[in-house]
Amino acid sequence: MPVEIFSSRDHDALRRAGRVAAETLAFVASSLRVGMSTGDLDRLVREDTARRGAVPSQLGYRGFPAAVCTSRNHVVCHGIPRADERLADGDLVNVDVTSKLGGFHGDTSATFLVGHASPEAQHVTDVARRACDAGIGAVRDGARLGDIGAAISTLARREGCSVVTEYGGHGIGRAMHTDPHVPHVGVRGTGRRLEAGMVFTIEPMINLGGPAVRVLDDGWTVVTCDGSLSAQFEHTVLVTRDGCEVLTRYFGNMAK
Ligand code: MF3
Ligand code: CO
Ligand code: CO
Repeated sequence: MPVEIFSSRDHDALRRAGRVAAETLAFVASSLRVGMSTGDLDRLVREDTARRGAVPSQLGYRGFPAAVCTSRNHVVCHGIPRADERLADGDLVNVDVTSKLGGFHGDTSATFLVGHASPEAQHVTDVARRACDAGIGAVRDGARLGDIGAAISTLARREGCSVVTEYGGHGIGRAMHTDPHVPHVGVRGTGRRLEAGMVFTIEPMINLGGPAVRVLDDGWTVVTCDGSLSAQFEHTVLVTRDGCEVLTRYFGNMAK
């Protein structure tokens, strides 16, 4: 499938969509407390997204029942928020926000340590953050998709972690999920060539144990098979001539 090259006319709208997703994620981060439920996080995302004049893209997407994915401890991704799932001291939780504004989507997630986290929880979270950054660092016009996966998987494995291969990043724009599929493992110099104007996400899921995952009976929740901790960070990036612009970086301005 062809990958859309966004013209500079669309870049500002993409920037605004990425920014609202990042701001809502930052708002959730500042509100997180031990004892809150993941259902509370869903309510915060709905309220904050509406306040910013945007719509939560995930709500109702293929029947997904919430506005945000909340993935705690051994949950890898697509966790469904629940009123009876409380955040306990030492948990880690990924919050994945996708917002639609002005016809475009922005998609970003971060993993937060709740209270006093174990060294293991800190390690997998730190590796996931650095793996996402390493993937972003491989992006520029003329680079290849395999360069991104290679950068991520080399770093994660060097740190004793594994990379989930069943899910990847994705093109994004007027739809939440478009081509290309962006694998988080790969071989340098292989795969589709990146071109300035492409927009996609990089969102490595990093496990402390093995890479195997399975989907629970709810049809959504993805967990590690070995029960090990999993962490993830996600950004939406716009490819440029000499690198990329991260559209979901949080700049500290929570004003609308
Ligand atoms: N935001 C998720 C992603 O990074 C989308 C999850 S689909 C949902 O691609 F339906 F689970 F929300
Ligand atoms: Co995504
Ligand atoms: Co996401």
